[in-house]
Order: sequence, then structure tokens, then C-alpha cells
Amino acid sequence: MAFDIEMIKATYARMGERVEAARKVVGRPLTLTEKILYSHLSEGLSTQKYERGKSYVDFNPDRVAMQDATAQMALLQFMTAGKDRVAVPSTVHCDHLIQAKVTASTDLAVANKENEEVYNFLSSVSNKYGIGFWKPGAGIIHQVVLENYAFPGGLMIGTDSHTVNAGGLGMIAIGVGGSDAMDVMAGMPWELKMPKLIGVKLTGKLSGWASAKDVILKVAGILTVKGGTDKVIEYFGEGAESLSCTGKGTICNMGAEVGATTSTFGYDESMERYLRATSRADVADLANTVKAHLTADPEVYANPSAYFDEVIEINLSELEPYVNGPFTPDLATPISKLKEVALANGWPMKVDVGLIGSCTNSSYEDISRAASLAEQVAAKKLKTKGEFTITPGSELVRYTIAKDGYVETFNKIGAEVFANACGPCIGMWARTGADKQEKNTIIHSFNRNFKARQDGNPNTYAFVASPEIVTALAIAGDLGFNPLTDTLINEDGVAVKLDEPKGFELPVKGFSVEDPGYQAPAANGSGVQVVVAPTSTRLQLLESFKAWEGTDLSGLKLLIKAKGKCTTDHISMAGPWLKFRGHLDNISNNLLIGATNFANEKANSVKNQLTGAYDAVPAVQRAYKAAGVGSIVVGDENYGEGSSREHAAMEPRHLGVRVVLVKSFARIHETNLKKQGMLALTFANPADYDKIQENDVLDIVGLTSFAPGVQLTVVLNHADGSKEEIKANHSYNDGQIGWFKAGSALNLLRQQK
Ligand code: F3S
Repeated sequence: MAFDIEMIKATYARMGERVEAARKVVGRPLTLTEKILYSHLSEGLSTQKYERGKSYVDFNPDRVAMQDATAQMALLQFMTAGKDRVAVPSTVHCDHLIQAKVTASTDLAVANKENEEVYNFLSSVSNKYGIGFWKPGAGIIHQVVLENYAFPGGLMIGTDSHTVNAGGLGMIAIGVGGSDAMDVMAGMPWELKMPKLIGVKLTGKLSGWASAKDVILKVAGILTVKGGTDKVIEYFGEGAESLSCTGKGTICNMGAEVGATTSTFGYDESMERYLRATSRADVADLANTVKAHLTADPEVYANPSAYFDEVIEINLSELEPYVNGPFTPDLATPISKLKEVALANGWPMKVDVGLIGSCTNSSYEDISRAASLAEQVAAKKLKTKGEFTITPGSELVRYTIAKDGYVETFNKIGAEVFANACGPCIGMWARTGADKQEKNTIIHSFNRNFKARQDGNPNTYAFVASPEIVTALAIAGDLGFNPLTDTLINEDGVAVKLDEPKGFELPVKGFSVEDPGYQAPAANGSGVQVVVAPTSTRLQLLESFKAWEGTDLSGLKLLIKAKGKCTTDHISMAGPWLKFRGHLDNISNNLLIGATNFANEKANSVKNQLTGAYDAVPAVQRAYKAAGVGSIVVGDENYGEGSSREHAAMEPRHLGVRVVLVKSFARIHETNLKKQGMLALTFANPADYDKIQENDVLDIVGLTSFAPGVQLTVVLNHADGSKEEIKANHSYNDGQIGWFKAGSALNLLRQQK
């Protein structure tokens, strides 16, 4: 952790000067988000005002976090960067690959066996390059980050969309793809569009059944799943200060569900308490020295509509618990209306399972409040009607709640405590009977409830709520039960009411843990061997892509002219392909299998120009590669939208596609293609898309004088012997042309080293 405290000191030491410079160029008081972003500019002191929602800006994040599914490709790339150590503090967390089936210890043993190769790889790469490694069972990435690494005023990126959870400790924390993580670990800047800002003013104070989760469930109902896109949500007001730090984390966590870039809160006493309780008094002391920079300028919160693009106000004193769903996290229903709405919509009323925990809601406060309800089952002579499970967010929380007797309390109501991992939240839940696909209702305290996400059953109606409401509804076994007003009949036939939940923000006797599951990296990793078996089906070391040959490209066969929507899922499908995320050659067998071929309107069926026969896209491309023939992919509008996964750019590059020519690109995918040394071009005249024919062979002319802003010529050699010339635009700057010439951004980085 010494590495971290020095980094935090350095961040705080430059903050004052940078905030002051930013205030001058922006010409007005600053929001917290702006203070954090402007103090992490890679240019250092700001020299210009960046336009929100428009300007692309280079930043230097303070740290990187990666979960096991996404870390594999990020680290395989990093290994080829020619660096001895990561440039910023980084961690890997083994949480996504553990299935919840029987009990924590059995499930963990199974996962350790099944994923042994992947875990050994992640552990040894981490050890070699100075990366902290959190073993399987140590906890979920975002909870572990909040407990150990998040700090007020910091900027971090993580290869998981719920990285935003660290906003609970006053960070700007953003989810990214693996190649972004690789860049930052290699010491390169990271680009982000300057976000727009939503201010959420919280007044009043929570009481009774209402919790922090209900704040974000209500916000999700207001903003919907798209309302936060390209925006940062900044919470403020007396209500914000009254929330616990972990409650703030819950709110920021689910900012991902409204599409927000991230969410954050200003530094306050709740954060200081949390830092001290999690053995980071040194960080709290440092934060106290720069307090004024860790919240917005006073003018901002006094007149928020003058500084934010949008303002929402919520009175916590009037907030009632919400239950969101089914199938989408923004369908928000207050508990007082739930019965009526559920009956009107025909939602199954019997609650089969209540699940608490996950990275969203497994704080000590959450667990102790839920336990106060579980305790009432025996005391009031009730029986729990639904099943009940807990997935603790970390070993620190699990050990502490076990020591304080809460696990026993839950066991008494028949609860199953799963491993400290994602488990049911990511669909790693071997739920008995799910394969029968029966219509049923579950309620959980996680963040996402898309169809089939938890148990693979599309007929499971999943609802999201606070741990308190989940527990109450699991006890009642009834979606129509409103614990604020309704009674339950106990074994004596008496109507009893559950008392309001009560808990502790932090453990009175402190947190404790025997083995947190952390492996510190070697001080000097040069002697550490990273073993990847050549026969492995899950991992493959990366080889450098070839540099540009220095000539125009000619004789490129058309692989596919994709028609309509072609997202990163169409280019590199997820689902069963997830297990190959660390093996470029194997995952390349999903290349473009979801894209529609304009020529026959079919997916995964393209003509092999060498044989004239139709075959699967990867098979045809492999045939071209084997014959030493280059190829080109043509696409429609917004090609590559969706996730930032770099596999969608690495796979075509690996299989020998040289050019992607489209009407327009999704920005991140375009950058990913450039980084991998591909030529990413757009039709100067989008109507030229129609000129591309199935049997075309294409040439790209003008590469020997490839320069920013200068068009390239594309020659279409049609099968009937005729030729056409069209113009293509590109958005390469000088540095990116360097990537193309070197064969990839990584190759260039190595050359520069
Ligand atoms: Fe894991 Fe679910 Fe959080 S998948 S990281 S527990 S959102």
C-alpha cells in the first residue's frame, strides 16, 4: 500500500495549482467533477476550457482495476508492451468465474479447479509486473476497491462497468475496455469525452425503511436506462452528507444502470469515518488537508442550475422504498403501489427467492439492517416463505458479519451464504429447476435484472430493491407485501408487523479478517515466469502484428459487406465465447458471425472468392489468411457500437483483415481498430456503400503519403472487369498514423522504448 499513499500524496500535492488554473480557463466556480477531471489532465495545468459533451480530452488516471474475465486480454496485451512494471497502481480481482451452487467452500473449490489455468496466469502476470492480485474468494472487485483503494478526488478506470461504485468515496471512477486499461498501465494517457453534468440535490434524511438504494432506484425511474449517457452525476446537499459512505457507493454503483459515465459525491465526514474504519487513517488525514478541492466551489451548490446541465432534487425525508423491474432496472414502483401494479400486470406474486449482497449492496450497514429483520422471524414466531441467499462483497465483510453473529442469524432463516463473488448477479447461479423455464419471481439487491441474467430462465421475473425490502419480501414470500403497513400471520395465528430495520453504519467492534485473500506483487518481478501452455484452449500469448509493408494495399477480397446494425456483439459475440477471452485464435472463430451479409441477407454466410462457395465468416477469412490474401470488411452506420471490447478489433487483425470501410464508426471501436494497426476508413460519400459488390477486389491507394486530413482512394475492381474509384476519409492524426505504420500502437510503444 506504500505505493498508493505516495500516489495519493502526489495527486493531492498538485491539486491546488491545477484546480486554480482550471478555474481561470473555465472562468467560473467549478463542480467537483470538473475539479477532479481538470486536475488529472495529461497536459498538466489546463490551458484551455474543454466543452462538455464535445471535447475529447487526455487524462492520466491514478489507478486501474481489472476483473478476471476482462483482465486476461488486457494483461496479454500489456505483456507485449515491453514494460517491466505497470506505470500506475493496478489490481486484478478474481470474482466473475465462480459459480454459486452449493456452499461457499464447495463452490470455491470447484472454481479453483475449473479455472486453475486462468487464475495461475493472472496471479503470475500480476506478480511479475507489480499488480496487486486478489485471489478467488477475496471478494468482488468494486467492494474490494472501496475498502482498499478508492480515495476522494482520485481518478480511476476499471475493466468493468460498475467501476463507478468508487464514486461513493468521492472518486471519478469509470468502466473501460481492456485496451484502455493496458494503455494506462503502460503509461499512456487515456481519452474521454468531457462529460455533461447532472446535479442531484439531496435534502432531508432517510428514516425507517428507506435506504440509499431507494435513492438510485428513484433516480433510475426518472432518468431511465439512457438518461445518464455521456454524463456524470454529482450528488450534493445535506441529504448527501447524511448518507453513509457505503450507501453512497450503492448509489454510484447503479449509476451504470442509467448509462452514466460515472457518479460521485463530495468528501465528507461519512467518507472520513469509512477510511478510518478500513485502516486508512493516513488517507483521511491527507484528504483533510485538501478538503476544499474535494467538493464543488460553494457557489455551485448554492445555484446548481447555473453550473449543471440538468438538476434533480430528491427529499430523503419523503422517500419511500422502491422495487424496480421486472426485466429492466428503470421500471420503478414505490412499495405502496407495488401490489396494485403487480396484479394489474400479471407479475407472479409468490416470491421464490430473495438474494442479498453483490457489489451493489453488501456493506456492513446493509447486512446488519437486513439481519435485524431476519432476527424478527423467530422472535415473532414467523416462518420464512421464500428461499434466501447472501453473496458477501468481500472477505472483510463476510468475516466481520460472521464474527458479529449475523451469518448465524441468516442461517436460522434457512439462508445460503455463497462465495464472496459475483455468483447469481452475473448468471453464475446453478439454480435448481431453472432449466424448466417456469414463470416465477425473485427479488434481489443487485443492480441488473435483464431477462435471464440471474438464472438463465427468461421467465424469471427479477426485481431489484434494497436488502431490507428483499429480506422482508422473502420472509413474506409475497410480492404484494408492504412491510411499512401490512401484517403477517404467525404460527399462533396472530397478525404481526415487522419492525423497521435497524443497523450499524460501521461495525462497533471494528472490521476484522483472518486472510483477506491478497497477494502482493514481487518487489522485483524480473525472475517471475508466466506460464501459458501452448496447448491451452483458454489462454494464448499474443504475437506482435506485422508492420505495414510500406506500399499501397492491393487485391483485398471483400470478406463481408455488413448490412444494418453491426455492434461489437455482432463482430465478437459474448455468451459461450466468454471463456475464450484470453485466447485470441479461439475467440476469432466468432468473427462477425452475427453480422448480416448484404448479398444473401444471412448471418455467418459469405462467399469465399477463392472457391465460389459460401461458408462461415471465420472459415472464409481463415482461407484468405492461409492463401496470403488480404481482405476488407465493409459496414454501415455506427459500425462497432456497444461495448469497448478490443476483441472486436483484434480478431479481424489476427485473421488478416486489413481494412474496415464503413459509412460511420462508433468512436471507441474506431480507436480500437487504429490501436491494433487496422485501416479504419469511412466513405467520403456514404452512397458509395451501394457500389460495393459481392465479388469485388479492392485496392487502397495513397498510403505512401498517408497524412492527417488527406483522403485515400479506394479502387473497386468488379468481377466483370470494370473499375470504379471512390474516396475514403479517415480521422488518423500523426500519432495514429505511426500506429498504423508500426503495425499497432503496442508495436510503436515497444519501438519507442
Ligand atoms: Fe459482479 Fe454483478 Fe458487481 S457481476 S461486479 S456483482 S454487477
